[in-house]
Amino acid sequence: MSEKAQIKVNDNGPYLVKGNVEMVDADGNVFETKKAFTICRCGHSSNKPFCDGTHKKVGFESEPRVE
Ligand code: FES
Repeated sequence: MSEKAQIKVNDNGPYLVKGNVEMVDADGNVFETKKAFTICRCGHSSNKPFCDGTHKKVGFESEPRVE
């Protein structure tokens, strides 16, 4: 039984991905990831598609909520 995957939209920051999930590039190659990892949402990471913390430096603001 695999853990249900979850993607959390962090306020003013990255997507936090947890669970049994595989992330691949456009060619289908698998990125090496940990059990939990963050994906850049601000577009400024130097380590895309992963977050490198740059969102804090650039003042990224986004706090979406379920309506
Ligand atoms: S969300 Fe963290 S660097 Fe873009």
